[in-house]
Amino acid sequence: MNYDALLYENNEGHITLTINRPQALNAINKTVMTELNTFFGNDFKSIEGLNSVIITGAGDKAFVAGADIKEFASLDAAAGSALSKYGQDTYMLIENFHVPVMAVVNGFALGGGCELAMACHMRIASSNAKFGQPEVNLGLIPGYGASQRLPQLIGKSRAMELLLTADMIKADEAKSIGLINHIAEDKNDALDLASTILKKIATKGPLAVAKTIQAVNAYYDESKDGYKVEHEEFGFCIASEDCKEGSLAFVEKRRAVFTGK
Ligand code: CAA
Repeated sequence: MNYDALLYENNEGHITLTINRPQALNAINKTVMTELNTFFGNDFKSIEGLNSVIITGAGDKAFVAGADIKEFASLDAAAGSALSKYGQDTYMLIENFHVPVMAVVNGFALGGGCELAMACHMRIASSNAKFGQPEVNLGLIPGYGASQRLPQLIGKSRAMELLLTADMIKADEAKSIGLINHIAEDKNDALDLASTILKKIATKGPLAVAKTIQAVNAYYDESKDGYKVEHEEFGFCIASEDCKEGSLAFVEKRRAVFTGK
């Protein structure tokens, strides 16, 4: 995989994507968003044995300091709305991805950066991480989903305060309000912890992992009946070879060997 603004690493199907614009605190410009869209929309299909994806930022100062503000100047209402829609669609690909996607937040996660972390299935932050939605400082509102995902994750009242004040919060507060899963000392420790969790998930039935993501996401999708998605996917999984193997392995007191079928 060849990208201009993303670094790509494949460790036996565990992928790390590093947003690589440290000179701009990894701000998401058009190139970054297009490359994320290309990876999660298409390029992943060529990865054999894909298990998981980590998204992080280059360097120790920032995960992503937001959308690239320097690209805003020329935008009229229609172009601004299209930029927001493309970002929303891209983050939706991440949220609905069939293997777990983990954000490793190393430093600032602001605006579109905090939104990117929220679109991932789980979040681990280094102790220097800072989160915030500073859009109102720019006379703007969030464009990549924070008005929806922040209330989902931390509740309406806290979300409203963060969105309206543009306050930045540190990793310990982000953990206490449920915005992130874990805090690690530094970026390397955060990457190690992410890898441990993702490798554990990779020992589970791949179909069950994909369907769990789908069923949990259905809770937040008003066009879907989440309980219906759950019982349908339960039926799908119970008839799968993975479930037959998992149940047999339990009875035979051995580790299951899943094939994802
Ligand atoms: N877009 C473009 N460039 C950015 C950027 C951004 N979001 N954030 C930082 N940079 C650039 C700076 O312009 C600077 O570049 P130069 O060296 O060329 O001047 C470089 O990164 C380093 O940044 P600072 O000198 O500002 O670093 P600092 O340590 O003094 O401050 C900061 C760090 C508090 C994160 C500050 O950079 C900042 O406030 N950044 C903007 C944060 C922001 O408002 N994000 C929201 C963007 S809007 C959005 O994301 C909308 C949406 O929902 C889609």
